[in-house]
Amino acid sequence: MVIQGYPSPGDGLRLHLNENTGGCSSRVLEAIRNIGPSDVSTYPQYREAVTATARHFGVDPDWVLLTNGLDEGILMAAVAHIAKARAHDAETIIPRPAFDPYPNSTAAVGATAVWVPPGPDFAFPTQAVIDAVTPRTRMIFLNTPNNPTGQLIAVTDLARICEAAPRAVVLIDEAYIEFGGTTFLPHLSRYPNVLLGRTFSKAYGLAGMRVGVVIGQPWALDPVRSVTLPFNINGAALTAMRAALEDTDFLPRYAAEVRESRERLYTACRRLGLQYWPSAANYVMVRVGETAPFVEALAARKIHVRDRSKDPTTPGCVRITAGIVAHTDAVIEALDEVVTMRQAP
Ligand SMILES: Cc1ncc(COP(=O)(O)O)c(C=O)c1O
Repeated sequence: MVIQGYPSPGDGLRLHLNENTGGCSSRVLEAIRNIGPSDVSTYPQYREAVTATARHFGVDPDWVLLTNGLDEGILMAAVAHIAKARAHDAETIIPRPAFDPYPNSTAAVGATAVWVPPGPDFAFPTQAVIDAVTPRTRMIFLNTPNNPTGQLIAVTDLARICEAAPRAVVLIDEAYIEFGGTTFLPHLSRYPNVLLGRTFSKAYGLAGMRVGVVIGQPWALDPVRSVTLPFNINGAALTAMRAALEDTDFLPRYAAEVRESRERLYTACRRLGLQYWPSAANYVMVRVGETAPFVEALAARKIHVRDRSKDPTTPGCVRITAGIVAHTDAVIEALDEVVTMRQAP
């Protein structure tokens, strides 16, 4: 049987998809429990959720499009600006390493991905991205902090790219920005060609609900809205999202756990002689050498991490989610065992 979605790794600690390892706010669960029969039997209403989101981000509600996870926002942006625009020879620019939906959405709309390799130690290749812009460039995918490296793109570099490609849509994916780094949000009013992507999956722990946000000026956003299905997010997810926004204590508490977890992972990597990259997100990329036996050995200890070795720019690397500190301590204990076992004569 072909299974929809990602295969389940089985039971154990899920540190392979950058989820919130502590679960969502209890206020979200309470709000879901209070959903009534007519909330389920009627089509969802978006107005209040959009208004609350716009207020949260300090933008005009017309600049907000709620999507079924940011994944949907990425695909719909490509559908709007490439497929619907009938841009048959379109190119998208994708700096490596990259989140799979960028090339997948590019391919889905029949466009060509132009890959840009990273600089030394994953330095962001700003000039190379600018040099890759051609009259065929329709979209540029920028991800800060980057998945999987955790590296940030400086706001000044983001701005340079947006200015260098005024006819292309620049999608700035800030899925993990709540864990570190500076958002491009305050600069959005100067760039009609930018779409900013956010998600409730990570910092707010709503991955199972599927709520993302695309923010942008009408020139870039209205075409995306026009191709997005009218009832793309279900009512329970909207309820969950609004409750998550109301629990203002939740995010700072979880972000503090993530910061502490990252530090503990760095310390463990230094002790075990594993190369790692300091991350602004809720995961750390670690070079372990041969990844498959490493990932299997951790899985045997019921700890699931992500093998990133298939990407040509991250050979020998795994990505480990940094969430609740107690979970991080468990992965560190397993790392200790696996690395020591590997070093044994
Ligand atoms: C860089 C990046 N962007 C977007 C997403 C999509 O998040 P979602 O569709 O859960 O909102 C993810 C999820 O892993 C991600 O890593």
